[in-house]
Amino acid sequence: SPSDPDLVERARAAKAKLGDKVFVLGHHYQRDEVIQFADVTGDSFKLARDAAARPEAEYIVFCGVHFMAESADILTSDAQKVVLPDLAAGCSMADMATAEQVAECWDVLTEAGVADQVVPVSYMNSSADIKAFTGRHGGTICTSSNAQRALEWAFQQGEKVLFLPDQHLGRNTAVRDMGMSLDDCVVYNPHRPNGGLTAEELRAAKMILWRGHCSVHGRFSLDSVNDVRERIPGVNVLVHPECRHEVVAAADLVGSTEYIIRALEEAPAGSKWAIGTELNLVRRLANRFAPEGKEIVFLDRTVCFCSTMNRIDLPHLVWALESLAEGNLVNRIEVDRETEAYAKQALERMLALP
Ligand code: 13P
Ligand code: SF4
Repeated sequence: SPSDPDLVERARAAKAKLGDKVFVLGHHYQRDEVIQFADVTGDSFKLARDAAARPEAEYIVFCGVHFMAESADILTSDAQKVVLPDLAAGCSMADMATAEQVAECWDVLTEAGVADQVVPVSYMNSSADIKAFTGRHGGTICTSSNAQRALEWAFQQGEKVLFLPDQHLGRNTAVRDMGMSLDDCVVYNPHRPNGGLTAEELRAAKMILWRGHCSVHGRFSLDSVNDVRERIPGVNVLVHPECRHEVVAAADLVGSTEYIIRALEEAPAGSKWAIGTELNLVRRLANRFAPEGKEIVFLDRTVCFCSTMNRIDLPHLVWALESLAEGNLVNRIEVDRETEAYAKQALERMLALP
């Protein structure tokens, strides 16, 4: 079982044996059984920064998903090895934009005569290839905690933004935080010829949104918000910006996982909250804040865990740590040099945002 005391003891022993040689990062969506072994927890922005700030650690064990481990590899030195305890921990959103599809999109933008006005802004939740494309074309990476600043920067560089791969974060940031209208946004569908857009539509648009989404956050609906407001009078609805636009528009507060945690820390006793993000995190927060008299519920009881985040469990973590402690480097995530060089430019632009 996941809380098997034997496994807990083995993880502790392997970690103690490795000492400062290992640094364990844990994303907020990880299971409790894994989070207890994280040296640091955070949202994807904080984890990228924290990975880069540990040059003495030979091994970075990343408890999160593949694109996060790639980003950690890009931002750390060649001597440091990034390990993902289960290689099947991917992200369905990141998989929605492949290098070939994005190259084809750029051809479409070029043919429409708009490519030279377009600055790519790619969400952290993308492969290293997409980050390299972004760097090569003068763009930046963003996360859910700095998307507005990234867009402000991008609109200083050019007139249009190609936002990859999460249409919802792109739309929500443009409309909710930057005062653009829904009509300023078009959606590029990589499965349709020319993205399903005419050259005219591309010329008129300010935000060209890639047709990608998060399969977990995409399941919260306007009904989820209306139902919880009816069930719990006075409830504050707080959602992640990967949720659909109508959900974000109906919510009281919107922000990254780190923002969500801070909002609950600052909330007064007796306040009631419905949270629209991944279930491991919401459960942990509900348990943590219950003794302070804060009532925290999941925005929609029919939505469940992020299945790929959940692939990292205690048995996989124990296996990775014990292998490293025995000198076997397993499940290394290594981005090739050329991709890394361009992807790093895009990531560093994000880290330099005001
Ligand atoms: P943040 O932790 O940056 O809010 O991102 C959420 C997410 O979906 C990561 O996969
Ligand atoms: Fe990807 Fe969504 Fe899971 Fe985050 S929660 S890793 S965006 S599928």
